Amino acid sequence: MSAEPLTDLPPVRPTQAQASEMVHLIRTSFAAVESQADELSKHFYAVLFNMAPETRELFPANMQVQRSRLLRALVHVVQMVDRPDELIPFLTQLGRDHRKFGVIAKHYNAVGTALLSAIKTYAGDGWTPLVADAWTGAYQYISHAMSAAAEAEQGPASWLARVVNHRRLSWDVAIVQVQTGAPVPYRAGQYLSVETPRRPRLWRYLSPANAPREDGIIEFHVRSVEGGWVSRAIVAHTERGDTWRIGPPMGRMSVDRQSGRNQLMVVGGTGAAPIKAILEEMAQYGENPLTKVFVGGRNWEELYDFGSLRQLSYTNPWLNVVPVVEEDDTGQGAELGTLPDVVTRYGAWQDHDVLVCGSPGMIRATVSRMLVAGTPLDQIHYDPFTMD
Ligand SMILES: Cc1cc2nc3c(=O)[nH]c(=O)nc-3n(C[C@H](O)[C@H](O)[C@H](O)COP(=O)(O)OP(=O)(O)OC[C@H]3O[C@@H](n4cnc5c(N)ncnc54)[C@H](O)[C@@H]3O)c2cc1C
Ligand code: HEM
Repeated sequence: MSAEPLTDLPPVRPTQAQASEMVHLIRTSFAAVESQADELSKHFYAVLFNMAPETRELFPANMQVQRSRLLRALVHVVQMVDRPDELIPFLTQLGRDHRKFGVIAKHYNAVGTALLSAIKTYAGDGWTPLVADAWTGAYQYISHAMSAAAEAEQGPASWLARVVNHRRLSWDVAIVQVQTGAPVPYRAGQYLSVETPRRPRLWRYLSPANAPREDGIIEFHVRSVEGGWVSRAIVAHTERGDTWRIGPPMGRMSVDRQSGRNQLMVVGGTGAAPIKAILEEMAQYGENPLTKVFVGGRNWEELYDFGSLRQLSYTNPWLNVVPVVEEDDTGQGAELGTLPDVVTRYGAWQDHDVLVCGSPGMIRATVSRMLVAGTPLDQIHYDPFTMD
């Protein structure tokens, strides 16, 4: 198993043309080894734990559970060096976030060495000097952005939170309220990672459903996914008094109240949580742009929080909340269809800023249909860095 340590060369920001070439070389070389992902992943962690044995305890005891989240994330992120305007703010947040694991500067070198060693080993003849330079340059660029941000951050690496309420709305959805001693400095629309006592070292992202409060209470909406390690445990087994750990805020979703445009929000599943936080924050202002929110699901049962969103609209005349379901046998007056169908039925929404929030599949489907309908790309906002 060959593993040449990375040098500590200062990273050079690639030009746009260089970054595009890097991404091309990384994509094609990775496509050639992707079918050996399991072996590649074993090699990656073997080199990492050999070079920096102390990093083993940052990961879950059972590595199978995680399906190589870190490795998948690395491969995903190095392919984005041609989009620095989105990537650098994300990496800045991610670097601060990684302090909660106990990651320190020298670990970046070990991870980089393990990554390059794994790709090189499985790429065989495909590992040309150009390919090696592309992976090395891209990794050094992203790891420097993360480690510099981590080093510059003075705030806490994580916050302890006590569960003060756990309410199960259905077999698969629960609302959990936690309280931190010092408020977590998030903005409405951002997300936080959480670690729960029943699933140690398995951190997952959740989006607060309320704007920040002085008493430190944060509400989360959790839907358990099939075969999910953490979501099922949270929905079924959380108890008042449990202690959670919360990571620093991430994400850039917000409403630009100065844009002069009306707002459209397209919401699926627990994507309702960050939208509710944003609406609650908007409601603190006297005046707001006209805001239309489509809340969708397969049936009424999936619109688990529709009632409280509609309630907000009764006291805020700028807000209009529309239910969207694929089947409605209740006659409650929902629009019928999928979210992309219903939203694009209204046209291109050219004079609106658009927020899209939900599962990765729902975001992809909605954004692509809206682009085809003529909505300008730069008016559509969502958090794009989702790995699942
Ligand atoms: C930015 C962001 C914000 C999020 N906010 C919330 C939130 O407010 N509330 C909430 O409940 N969840 C939220 N999630 C999803 C959450 O972080 C977890 O991914 C989800 O709870 C599954 O974790 P798990 O450990 O139960 O599943 P895992 O054990 O990680 O995965 C088990 C299986 O479920 C699949 N899977 C993973 N995630 C999903 C998903 N979202 N939908 C369908 N299948 C999935 C996996 O591919 C795998 O096959 C958010 C995710 C991101 C990226
Ligand atoms: C330099 C680039 C790096 C990038 C882009 C990166 C990215 C990520 C991302 C996005 C996740 C979350 C994955 C998810 O929840 O879906 C993650 C998890 C994690 N990362 Fe990193 N990371 C980097 C470096 C490191 C380093 C140097 C370490 C130290 C060993 C590290 C340790 C971890 C651990 C322990 C986890 C959680 C466990 C796991 O999900 O497997 N990361 N990383």
